[in-house]
Amino acid sequence: MCGIIGYVGQREAIPILLQGLRKLEYRGYDSAGIAIIEDEKLHIFRKKGKIQDLQQEIGAKTFHARYGIGHTRWATHGVPSDCNAHPHCDCGGTIALVHNGIIENYRALKERLLEEGHHFSSDTDTEVIAHLLEGEGEPLSRLLKLVSLLEGSFALCVLFQEEPGVLYGVRQSSPLLLGVGEREYFLASDIPAFLEHTRNAVLLDDGEIVRLSETGFTVFDFTGKEKEKTSFTIPWDPVSAEKGGFKHFMLKEIHEEPRVFEDTLAGRLHPEAGEIILDDLCVPFFSFERVVMVACGTACHAGMLGKIYLEKLARLPVGAEYASEFRYQDPFLEKTLVIAISQSGETADTLKAVELAKERGARVLSICNVLGGSLTRISDWVLYTRAGIEISVASTKAFLAQVTVLLLLALSWGKKRGVLASKEVETFIAELLGLPRKMHTLLEKGDTLHHIARQFYLHQNFFYLGRGVFYPLALEGALKLKEISYAYAEGLSGGEMKHGPIALVGPDLVSVVLVGEGERRVKMLGNIEEIKARQGKVIAIAEEGDEEVSEKAEVTVFIPQTLEFLSPLLAIIPLQLFAYYMALERGCDVDQPRNLAKSVTVE
Ligand code: AGP
Repeated sequence: MCGIIGYVGQREAIPILLQGLRKLEYRGYDSAGIAIIEDEKLHIFRKKGKIQDLQQEIGAKTFHARYGIGHTRWATHGVPSDCNAHPHCDCGGTIALVHNGIIENYRALKERLLEEGHHFSSDTDTEVIAHLLEGEGEPLSRLLKLVSLLEGSFALCVLFQEEPGVLYGVRQSSPLLLGVGEREYFLASDIPAFLEHTRNAVLLDDGEIVRLSETGFTVFDFTGKEKEKTSFTIPWDPVSAEKGGFKHFMLKEIHEEPRVFEDTLAGRLHPEAGEIILDDLCVPFFSFERVVMVACGTACHAGMLGKIYLEKLARLPVGAEYASEFRYQDPFLEKTLVIAISQSGETADTLKAVELAKERGARVLSICNVLGGSLTRISDWVLYTRAGIEISVASTKAFLAQVTVLLLLALSWGKKRGVLASKEVETFIAELLGLPRKMHTLLEKGDTLHHIARQFYLHQNFFYLGRGVFYPLALEGALKLKEISYAYAEGLSGGEMKHGPIALVGPDLVSVVLVGEGERRVKMLGNIEEIKARQGKVIAIAEEGDEEVSEKAEVTVFIPQTLEFLSPLLAIIPLQLFAYYMALERGCDVDQPRNLAKSVTVE
């Protein structure tokens, strides 16, 4: 939520800040702003709307400033407006800052500041920070005093007019990292903001302040003590943060799925030994009596599939919980392994759930996509998903990679626990190796899915029904549709339909029915009959050759045959494509849906 950037170096700052903000726009896009210092004077530009609106606001004015800060907002306190947009500044207009996070005690701080005579020009929680920085002393000592007053989460970039050529970054429970170039430095909420300038980065930890100038940087802890930091090389190619000829990042990312799948398998399958070896991961799973998956949104749906995999293939008792709920429960976590799943590694609810789990003595394995994400730093073990940069707010390829990793984990532990025989693992490996080809055949059905979307885009209400491995997929299909097309969609277990939701079935309701095979198939055919009997419409996703389904449904999308546990890795593709084309037909902003942000870094 919210993207922040800072630049100091030898080049003109404004184009670099604007370009960085464009790369961070997925984190929030209701307003944006920048601040620079030129001729010893602070200049601030802020605008409601997207980066292009901000660019128009700056217009043809020429500035040559070589350092500055920027922000793209996802509103928490105060409506999206010019005056609530960041940067915010103090009364004297000499300090400017951008903020990602929430200042939980801002009301008390604001009341005190108002009593002291400060004037506020916004409804944000952030503005108190600028006012608190007013006063005597060196900027660094004022920042150190500031952090002792703030409660909540904050990543900040700060400019002080009195200290030319210098930029400060502060990190506490919100992401911030440093890009290190040739006599130039970047601060940003996420890597894409500076990836095309440098692949050399330094992760900042909570409780750190960094002071940057074009000649170098120094990191301090919140007591003012200097700290040593080590840099790392970002493994991502800058081209991966471009659309590569696709109309939207979402479509590009769906098309990357076969490659992501292959990358996620690479080096981990050992068919000759009938084994799966997951890097050098050595979780002592024998010492755990149960596993709990915690995650949010799409990642939680992957966790629900992971539960099915681990229970069946490794015979471990597993729970799967929304992280946002888990943290308000009083869970029994003795001898428990918590598996936390997150694309970004920055989701506040997931981080809080992990903190609770650790306080209660659980050990944590995180499954994460972003290298060095906060989640990875508080976990005992980490497995990376190798999906590459995911930019579209709607998560697609990261889900596929999460499910793949969870399946590999279940196979690996199943074998080690003596539940699975080498032969069974070999069968899985053989089928896994053939899956990318089958994924390609589904991607080729893009036009078909577009045609189906044209048929149904005027409908406002959708059910997604599935059983077994297709139940989490039904939840995920519904989430994809609602978040980008704004149609109402509810994911349901096929068996639950008759316990209430069936009351909604009628000519206006479209049900996307994930049929599956075996025992599930018969039951799902029953669901289709029940829907048809009430004049509901059915889009079926069924195995190739299932003519009985296609005779009953309005439309059927066939997926290639595979093992039951691998079928979600195929069926997800038409679900994602359908949501994409529905959003397109409904004229929605696919990559930046309203009210959403990619990384939800507030609770
Ligand atoms: C999915 O399309 C959503 N953008 C959202 O549900 C997302 O999966 C969720 O916020 C979790 O994010 P994370 O994987 O980065 O933790």
